[in-house]
Amino acid sequence: MTRPLIVRTREELRAATTGTVALVPTMGALHDGHLSLMRHVRPLADTVVTSIFVNPTQFAPGEDFDTYPRTFERDVALCAEVGVDVVFAPTVDVMYPAGLDGTVRVDPGPLGRILEGEMRPTMFQGVLTVVAKLFGLVKPDIAIFGEKDYQQLTLIRLMAQELCLGVEVLGGPTVRETDGLAMSSRNAYLTEDERSLAAGISEALHAGAEAGSAGAEAVVAAAARVLQSRGITADYLVVTGPDLGEAQPGQEGRLLVAARVGEPRLLDNVAVHLGE
Ligand code: PAF
Repeated sequence: MTRPLIVRTREELRAATTGTVALVPTMGALHDGHLSLMRHVRPLADTVVTSIFVNPTQFAPGEDFDTYPRTFERDVALCAEVGVDVVFAPTVDVMYPAGLDGTVRVDPGPLGRILEGEMRPTMFQGVLTVVAKLFGLVKPDIAIFGEKDYQQLTLIRLMAQELCLGVEVLGGPTVRETDGLAMSSRNAYLTEDERSLAAGISEALHAGAEAGSAGAEAVVAAAARVLQSRGITADYLVVTGPDLGEAQPGQEGRLLVAARVGEPRLLDNVAVHLGE
């Protein structure tokens, strides 16, 4: 098991990457969800780069930027286990040479203003801006993001296509704990009681997906019943099309939920096949 090369600048990246390059962007605090993304791209690329950068511009004032878990040495050891070649761990100055108030930002457009974008109005601008910068610095051929953050994945795909960035964006399936809870670095914030309650979110999605043949309304109703029975209030619980547009009967849709369990907000989603 070889320790990945740790690089911090564009010049060091240039020297460390050859051939087909795959990028797995992360904010660290790695878990099996991240590792599955790294395993997924390992056979597709000559060089696998994982970036670890807690991006200040995607946190609003009062959010958890300062307390976000930072576990760098452990993260590097996990990257070694799955065969990552390079860990890119830039400073804020490398990522934001004009400072955090730099004037150019990526506008996520209308899909960035619904669902999570409505709850956290500046987040997707911060995410797309930092991902565009990562693409510019790492120059990957492929980049992979988890489906757990489905709206983020959708917006990054759109950005790569619409801004002609020349990066193939892949989505990796959500990795779950044994009780179904979607893995997330923020699960670390859950108390023991909240942790057992949180499994209700994936149970609700499961119940919703089971009701798919009866149509979108039935899907939402079935999922809402489970959430209600657990005392979980959703910020949103919706069925959309796979592109986050309107759900179409007879086609695949996406059931998405965000809910606060104690302090942390948890996000999850599943594919649903919608009946006529
Ligand atoms: O999903 C994340 O961890 C972050 O939003 C990302 C894509 C690494 C950008 O900071």
